[in-house]
Amino acid sequence: MSDQITIFDTTLRDGEQSPGCSMDTSEKLEVAKALVELGVDVIEAGFPIASPGDFEAVQKIARTYGDRATICGLSRCRKEDVDRAWEALRDAQNVRIHVFLATSAIHREFKLKMAKEEIVRQAVEMVKYTADKMSSRTDIVRPNIEFSPEDAIRTELDFLCEVVEKAIEAGATTINIPDTVGYATPHHFYTVIKALKERVPNIEEAVISTHCHNDLGLAVANSLAGVEAGARQVECTINGLGERAGNAALEEIVMALRTRHDYFGISTKINTPKLFPTSRLVSSITGMKVQRNKAIVGQNAFAHEAGIHQHGMLQNRGTYEIMRPEDVGYVGTNLVLGKHSGRHAFRDRVVSLGFELDDEAFQKVFDDFIALADKKKEIYDADIVALIDKRAHQVPQQWQIVNFHTFGGTGTIPTATIDMKHEDGRRVQDAATGDGPVDAVFKCLERIVDITAKLQEYNVRSVSKGKDALGEVSVAIEVNDRMHHGKGVSTDIIEASAEAYLQALNKALTTERGRDPYPQHGM
Ligand code: KIV
Ligand code: ZN
Repeated sequence: MSDQITIFDTTLRDGEQSPGCSMDTSEKLEVAKALVELGVDVIEAGFPIASPGDFEAVQKIARTYGDRATICGLSRCRKEDVDRAWEALRDAQNVRIHVFLATSAIHREFKLKMAKEEIVRQAVEMVKYTADKMSSRTDIVRPNIEFSPEDAIRTELDFLCEVVEKAIEAGATTINIPDTVGYATPHHFYTVIKALKERVPNIEEAVISTHCHNDLGLAVANSLAGVEAGARQVECTINGLGERAGNAALEEIVMALRTRHDYFGISTKINTPKLFPTSRLVSSITGMKVQRNKAIVGQNAFAHEAGIHQHGMLQNRGTYEIMRPEDVGYVGTNLVLGKHSGRHAFRDRVVSLGFELDDEAFQKVFDDFIALADKKKEIYDADIVALIDKRAHQVPQQWQIVNFHTFGGTGTIPTATIDMKHEDGRRVQDAATGDGPVDAVFKCLERIVDITAKLQEYNVRSVSKGKDALGEVSVAIEVNDRMHHGKGVSTDIIEASAEAYLQALNKALTTERGRDPYPQHGM
């Protein structure tokens, strides 16, 4: 059995499918680029039949990154799904189609209304159909087809073995075992994979894969149990993003296999110092915060505050540290630079934090750094990361703030006055009152931009230490049933709030005008 495992990332499909996490095509491309640089083997880029937006994103990712990773698209066991998936993926050098059909009794009876024989027939027919489609490309000798018996974990074991055997016979090269509802426990998952290995006669012709949801908080443990039983592909997402409680977290799987190589004897091709930046990127794009104490990529994951721990660490890091922060690309809050640090020192720091900025982007971030250094004595790594994040994810700004003023305090009516310019050259000034200065700013922005939004989330966090710390504001707004996220950073949290809200409004404007619609899912 191979001691190398395939990392199949489904952040852009299962992750993106979870409420509030939708991304537009350019955001998906940005995540795909990060996944390629992280070294994932397979990127499940989306569900092409779900919407024109999904199709476009899968096609662009297939065309852009299909030579550096295998690009996969999801498809139900229906001809029209397979056709659409193939159309989106056919230009990728390395391509996989992932077909799925539910097999558990509850899904057969209530969702599909199909008998066992019909399930087998349809699965076999669609795997063969997919193989025929993919074979139309002369360079494809053995089509790369993944088959998932959805809700496999709640499927009768005999029937699961039968479906798996027939799917492999029909041409499936990977058999994925989804715990669709996060019901399994580690030993249970282990026994299912072991049973497939022992009872399915042709199982060696396919790779067994795990796909675990986290409803009981066991997704990573179940995936690792699957690996112990012989699975050689793990499906996972950055930050454990995904439907309901999410999927198995890629960073946790990878670091568990690496840190406990003595136990598992399994390697991945993941470039682990990219884990932290990739986590930050996905969190920044989706607006899904990473909890502070989250394993591997939480802000506290490497913080040793307790005196007794610090004492031990000074003698030997291994006393309390099983992984080195630098191995996952962790960025702490070390004091690094100040007003007098030059361009060279700043560039060195940016590079050692793992960022590659072209000259134009570097200049912008450096200008922001100089402006910040005027306001703030001590600049930490985390501040620099926040400045880079802000520049890196700038969306097309139809509207920009030229200047703004707020007025508030006890016994006054909070008021905001904003001067804005539009990309077409228009200049508009307006004012609004609100419950507080932030509310007044939001109302005034809505008036000028001419969109009514519902504020669903508003978070403020201090990026680093001290009273002069940068404040990072993230917002989620709802416009016509769609969520849009925005982020702003400034030492002035009203300014950061204005930036964040305007970024979300600009995204909403772009979407509403149909320039780059968010994809809809239609499972
Ligand atoms: O959770 C699940 O069953 C899925 C399938 C489509 C593989 O995501
Ligand atoms: Zn899933």
